[in-house]
Amino acid sequence: MTYAGTPELVERAYTAARRIGFPVTAGDPGHGRGSACLPGTGRFLAMLAAGCQGGRIGELGTGAGIGAAWMSTAMPADCGLVTAEIDPIRAAAARDLLAADSRVEVLTGDAVELISPRGPFELIFADSGVRSGETFGALVTLLRPGGRIVMDDLTPLRLLPAASPLHERDIKREMFASEPRLTWTEVVLPDLENSLLVGTRR
Ligand SMILES: C[S@@+](CC[C@H](N)C(=O)[O-])C[C@H]1O[C@@H](n2cnc3c(N)ncnc32)[C@H](O)[C@@H]1O
Repeated sequence: MTYAGTPELVERAYTAARRIGFPVTAGDPGHGRGSACLPGTGRFLAMLAAGCQGGRIGELGTGAGIGAAWMSTAMPADCGLVTAEIDPIRAAAARDLLAADSRVEVLTGDAVELISPRGPFELIFADSGVRSGETFGALVTLLRPGGRIVMDDLTPLRLLPAASPLHERDIKREMFASEPRLTWTEVVLPDLENSLLVGTRR
């Protein structure tokens, strides 16, 4: 049974992604952790974006604009979204896709550099490969109290092979767990194979 459809803008983002060779599903060449956000992540981001009245959303790593399409479709009319992508072809495709929405800005370049001066944010989707606790802390500083930060592309611990080094050390889980300003949790997506981390700044 399908409980909810996919917004038309997200469908168009998938089309744009395929046109520029940005991997979308497991069958696409180059698919992996550097590809489009999963539908479960997109729907989760949309749910959070819907609560960002009068606020601002920041995305690090636009890709082809799939996450941005989920969020911009759901966010209130008085909310803004700024997203940054280092790959100029991806950034151009996303800019094209989202051009009709004046609330959305797609920037080309390093996401931490470009997004940091644009805070404070109600929601940050940190999806550009941030792996330093210091950078992660700086992103949390950009959140308003009550604001959320999301990172995806995790495998639930119970699904990891016993020998996986991620049982011992996982930098993403470590960044959330070591940040004293966050109350956070891990959410398993409806596909039961992937999870994300979400934290609220107290
Ligand atoms: C996982 S994908 C993003 C997926 C996208 N958020 C979505 O919802 O479909 C990661 C993206 O981050 C970009 N990226 C990597 N390093 C970056 C950086 N320093 N600044 C901006 N983007 C970066 C990559 O080119 C890639 O397109």
